[in-house]
Amino acid sequence: MEAFCLRWLLLVWQCFIIPVWGLDSYTAAVYEHPAVLQLNSMTPSTREEALKHMQKNLDIYQEQVHEASKQGVKIIVFPENGIHGFQNHRNVLYLYLEPIPDPNVVEWNPCLHPTEYNDIEVLYQLSCMARNGSMYLIANIGERQACELSDPQCPPDGRFQFNTNVVFDSEGNLIAKYQKWNLFILEPAYDKPKTLQHVIFNTPFAGKFGIFTCFDILFYEPAVSLIERYGVKQIIFPTAWMNLLPLLSSVEFHQAFASALGINLLAANQHHPEYNMTGSGIYTPFDFPYYYNMKSSEGKLLVAKVPIITSIRNHSLEQSESQMASAFLQEQKGEVKQGQTDLLKNSVSHMDGAEDIFHALMMFDNYTFIPLTGVQGNLQVCSNNLCCHVAYKYANTPNNLYALGAYDGRHTLDGIYYLQVCALVKCAGSGYDTCGQSVTDASDIIDFKLWGNFSTRYIYPEILASEMKIYRADSKGWNNNDFYMTKKEMSAGLVTAALYGRWYEKD
Ligand SMILES: *[C@@H]1O[C@H](CO)[C@@H](O)[C@H](O)[C@H]1NC(C)=O
Ligand SMILES: *[C@@H]1O[C@H](CO)[C@@H](O)[C@H](O)[C@H]1NC(C)=O
Ligand SMILES: *[C@@H]1O[C@H](CO)[C@@H](O)[C@H](O)[C@H]1NC(C)=O
Ligand SMILES: *[C@@H]1O[C@H](CO)[C@@H](O)[C@H](O)[C@H]1NC(C)=O
Repeated sequence: MEAFCLRWLLLVWQCFIIPVWGLDSYTAAVYEHPAVLQLNSMTPSTREEALKHMQKNLDIYQEQVHEASKQGVKIIVFPENGIHGFQNHRNVLYLYLEPIPDPNVVEWNPCLHPTEYNDIEVLYQLSCMARNGSMYLIANIGERQACELSDPQCPPDGRFQFNTNVVFDSEGNLIAKYQKWNLFILEPAYDKPKTLQHVIFNTPFAGKFGIFTCFDILFYEPAVSLIERYGVKQIIFPTAWMNLLPLLSSVEFHQAFASALGINLLAANQHHPEYNMTGSGIYTPFDFPYYYNMKSSEGKLLVAKVPIITSIRNHSLEQSESQMASAFLQEQKGEVKQGQTDLLKNSVSHMDGAEDIFHALMMFDNYTFIPLTGVQGNLQVCSNNLCCHVAYKYANTPNNLYALGAYDGRHTLDGIYYLQVCALVKCAGSGYDTCGQSVTDASDIIDFKLWGNFSTRYIYPEILASEMKIYRADSKGWNNNDFYMTKKEMSAGLVTAALYGRWYEKD
């Protein structure tokens, strides 16, 4: 009888539970790549030299695909500019570019049919890697497209140069390409595509994926639109992200984006600590394994099991996909739990120190700040129409200066985007002018509730602790007109806690 039960249990386990698990997740990899940026400090002057350079990176990609295939990876993502490096001169970049046929129009497997087009050496190798490793493969390459000078958008040299991601399925077919829409100011050698693209591709193991590149993540189009209007729950994100503290470090912001929108984000960054480039992750609504390393010069293959959240949502909510995204924002409103902690219960009973308000630049924006004083307290500070509040309590005697900052305005330095931010930051020194500067270490443990009366519903909650440790809020959501988050009992010193709001309509 016992033996029967045990065997029956095992059978149930094997027949039902394991397959269900197998269906509900898959293994993904992102590779943080220390791209070889140049060959022999020489600027190439021929296609052959450019190919020699790119081969160094392709050889590394091949090794990573091999390693990933041993770990059962179904999809691998490589970073932006990972093969051709950072080329700022239009004519030099041109040597690296390949023509990429439109996968919506032609079916093409470069590995099986390499002679159908010319100058497609990189596409050929990527396709063979995907096929040989039997996995979906996403890489960023440069694309060239001839145009007629009679076309008013055609550049004077008669060609477009795009920053393009290519997607291969596990047989090596080219199934999608995406041309970066929001070019960063450091990309003068590239052209903006003629049309905005919402690129979505299907996989047999996890359904739909959307794709965009680096700077795109700060804008509504195409990033948030893919998620909100097209119902995509999984995003492929090649990037070459330069970390900018306190608010826009890669792992800090990328996990906040995934968490706020309830999606999986497969983020592959370059690894160049000398340019402050590191930080890759596989961010899911549940777990968020990530890699951040400013000390080592090595690359890193990050492999993780990813839950298929499309299926969970499809089964649990009988809704159209675009409704699902807005339902998500409603769910966040539903998360409201008032009076989280004793500390916060009477948190607006009185406000301290309004006389200490000062201004300082944080990431080139002029924030209004108020310093934290004492072991616990309540503070408010406003900027234009946004008022930010914090109720806080130190677990220790305060060691360092912290301040609460508010910013409601347009950022204009390296791109134009409208922000509404409430941020509790550790200042770099003891002077008020150091608040908002870059800090990575902290020893003060602080419990807090942070909230503000935002005018946008796109709010990305960030909690960054000493040594680039990321936390998620204990609770977050809307309480009437305020968006809040709370956090207690962190095990590392607090560096930054921020509600990073983007008011896309005001860009
Ligand atoms: C296929 O993969 C194996 C090992 O993963 C590797 O040794 C071989 O060179 C690859 N072949 C091609 C054509 O990429
Ligand atoms: C990297 O970040 C540090 C700290 O924020 C900064 O001082 C330095 O200038 C940055 N380096 C580059 C190359 O941007
Ligand atoms: C920031 O704004 C305040 C108030 O408008 C102003 O007095 C101050 O000069 C500004 N600071 C900088 C660095 O622009
Ligand atoms: C936020 O609160 C302040 C102070 O109560 C108020 O002046 C401001 O209008 C509020 N903003 C919004 C968008 O309600």
